[in-house]
Amino acid sequence: MESIFDIELELPNKEIYDRSKTLIGFEKKYSRISSNLRLLQEQEAVNAWSKKCHGQQLPILDYIQDKYSLIILAGDAGTGKTVTAEAIADRMVRDLNKEGYFIRLSTRVRGEGLHGQMGNLVNDAFKHLRDIAGKKRLCYLLIDEADAVATTRSTLQMHQEEKAAVNTLIQKIDEIRDLKGRAVVMMSTNRIHFIDEAMIRRAAVILEFTRPNAEERVEFFRQSLSGLKLSDDEIRQLSEMAGPSQGRDYGYSYSDLRLRLLPEVVAYAFTKNESITFDTIATAIENIKPSPVIL
Ligand SMILES: Nc1ncnc2c1ncn2[C@@H]1O[C@H](COP(=O)(O)OP(=O)(O)OP(=O)(O)O)[C@@H](O)[C@H]1O
Ligand SMILES: [Mg+2]
Repeated sequence: MESIFDIELELPNKEIYDRSKTLIGFEKKYSRISSNLRLLQEQEAVNAWSKKCHGQQLPILDYIQDKYSLIILAGDAGTGKTVTAEAIADRMVRDLNKEGYFIRLSTRVRGEGLHGQMGNLVNDAFKHLRDIAGKKRLCYLLIDEADAVATTRSTLQMHQEEKAAVNTLIQKIDEIRDLKGRAVVMMSTNRIHFIDEAMIRRAAVILEFTRPNAEERVEFFRQSLSGLKLSDDEIRQLSEMAGPSQGRDYGYSYSDLRLRLLPEVVAYAFTKNESITFDTIATAIENIKPSPVIL
């Protein structure tokens, strides 16, 4: 299976949990997902609730059974789709007091060399998903950068084999419904308009990811620059500088902030053997430009 998955993790996982604590806005995203998925994962509890509060199995519950355990995470590069997918899986396993598994479909599956085999690989991936979900465990499959697999079949240049792979994927997502929410498929994409319409229709939730707004940047700086004794006003200024300004209509993404800006700040101060000040950070923000938006 090494060739199909590039990550296989048992859940709960401490590292993922700790990381989730540093994600701005995670709780809001999580509560939206969990309230939807729990309806699938805890059907017996939902039935019991319905009997208790309404004296019967409400007809409305039939519609829940029609939902698919598919979540689409859509948004620009570096906005947290991959880290959030892991964090959601980990948190859900904890909240349900269960054990689980997180697997990520390797980008190799879509490698040029594997054209035509993609349908088979999707089959194998779902077979594995079913095996490890078993009777009790929850299993989460992340198809990262899914536009490469789930590309809309209406594209003219699309090869027959690729269309077949998308059909297989749709069929597999339909089939895992009998696992009643114990297997969850998550797809991330920064080009949602390339995702096949049939897939979009099936999603229980489409979660949108954006670059941090002014308030979120303040929260990010406050959290990641703790220990530096910056005033609230300085934090606000930094947040503004990292936002849309100087003729740009977009600001820094989370990955620009965390993976480019912060290391630059530390490297500069360390090399000079001096403390990090407001000016160190302000200068770094001016030197590093936010990555362009992917449309
Ligand atoms: N909400 C957030 N709060 C703080 N940091 C975040 C948040 N979201 C993402 N990050 C950080 O930004 C970086 C990029 O996140 P991630 O790789 O999940 O983005 P992505 O949307 O999957 O990007 P891509 O489309 O390029 O794959 C990571 O270092 C992550 O920790
Ligand atoms: Mg990603």
